[in-house]
Amino acid sequence: MSVAELQALEAAHVVPSYARFPVELVRGAGTRLWDDEGNEYLDLLSGISVLNVGHCHPAVVAAVREQVATLTHVTNLFYTAPAMRLAQRLATSSLGGKVFFCNSGAEANEAALKLVRKAKPGGEVVVVHGAFHGRTYGALSATPQESKQAPFAPLVPGFVVAAPEPAALEAAVHEGTAAVLLEPIQGETGVHPLSEELLRAARAACDRVGAALVFDEIQTGMGRTGTLWAYEQTGVVPDALTTAKALGGGLPIGALVTGERLADVFAPGDHGSTFAGGPLVAAAANAAFDVLEEPALLASVRALGERLRAGLAALPGAANVRGRGLMVAFDTDDAPGLVRCALTEERIVLNATGPGTVRLLPPLIVTAEEIDDALARIGRLLSAVVA
Ligand SMILES: Cc1ncc(COP(=O)(O)O)c(C=O)c1O
Repeated sequence: MSVAELQALEAAHVVPSYARFPVELVRGAGTRLWDDEGNEYLDLLSGISVLNVGHCHPAVVAAVREQVATLTHVTNLFYTAPAMRLAQRLATSSLGGKVFFCNSGAEANEAALKLVRKAKPGGEVVVVHGAFHGRTYGALSATPQESKQAPFAPLVPGFVVAAPEPAALEAAVHEGTAAVLLEPIQGETGVHPLSEELLRAARAACDRVGAALVFDEIQTGMGRTGTLWAYEQTGVVPDALTTAKALGGGLPIGALVTGERLADVFAPGDHGSTFAGGPLVAAAANAAFDVLEEPALLASVRALGERLRAGLAALPGAANVRGRGLMVAFDTDDAPGLVRCALTEERIVLNATGPGTVRLLPPLIVTAEEIDDALARIGRLLSAVVA
C-alpha cells in the first residue's frame, strides 16, 4: 500500500488526533529504520525513548518469541514468573519498596496519584509549570498546559501548580499536601533539567508535611540519562517513581515503584488493570532490563551524551544545547522545518518539542561513529538554515 493510500484510510477511519509524517516505516533493527521504498533512516528518537535497547533487539525478540508461544495472558488472578521477577528487579534497582504494573506512562501516573491520595486522603498534589505527565484525566490534570487542558475541562480537582523554583515550591506545600510530582528532567516541554536545589527543596517540603515525593521517570528512566534512574544523579531519593516507555523493550508496559513507606498503601481491589504486567510484556521487559542495567552501556550513554552535546554546541544555529546522557535538546529558529528536512534530506529521525526546540533521544546502543555521523548530518541541515 502506498503512503497516499494509507493517508486515505486514515482520513476515512482514524480519529484525527495525530499529525503524522508522510512516511510508512516497515522495519527496524538497532539504530536503523527502513521505509516502504527501502530508504534507511538513522533513528535519533527511539520512538520517543521507547527503543532504548534499539529496534528489535535480539534478546527481546528471543524472549518474546519464547513467551508468546508459551503463555501470553492470565490476568492478575494468577502468578507468572516473568512479572514477579520484573517487580523484584524494578524495586531492588531503585526504591526498595513494591511495584504496581500497568500499560503506559499515563497509567503509571494515575496509579501514583491514587496511591498518594489514599496515603493522605483528600490531599493536594503539587506540580510545576512545564510539566508533562500524560493525557488521561488524572495525568492531564497534573499537566499544567493550557492547550492540552482547556478543551477537556472540568479536570480532576486538587492539583496545585508552582513555578519550578525552590521558594515557590516550598510555599505551595502545606499540611494538606499529599504529594509533589516532578520529572527530574522535563522531557515533552523541551528537555529542561530541574535544578538540584529545586529537587532538594521538594524533598524537604514533603518531609516537613508528611507528603510523598514522586518522580515521573517515564522518559528519564531505564538508562536514558546515563544511570538506570535519573534520580541517582541528583542526590534526592523520591518516595515513589513511575516508569514506562523503554521498560518493555518496545512493548507496552508501565509501572509505579514505591519506596518502603508507600509499599503497602494499596489493598486488594484498590487498583488494577486486565493486561497489566502480563507474562509477554514482562518477559520483554526482563530482556530489555538485562541490556540496560549493564554498567558498560550506562557509561557509554554518559560519554556519548557528552560527545553529542559538545558536537551540537559547536554547530552554528544550535543554541542552548542541554540535557543529560542521551536525552538532549537544542534550540533553533524553525524546529519543525528542520525535523521535516532531517527526515527527507538526511534520513535521520529527530523530534520538535515545540516551534523552537529539537529533541534527540537516540537508542542507547548508538555508537560514537553514529553520533559523529548524526552531527555531520545535523550540521548540514543547520548550515542550510543559517545560510
Ligand atoms: C514524563 C512523561 N510522563 C508521562 C508520559 C505519558 O506516557 P504515555 O504516553 O505512555 O501515556 C510521558 C510521555 O511522553 C512522559 O514523557
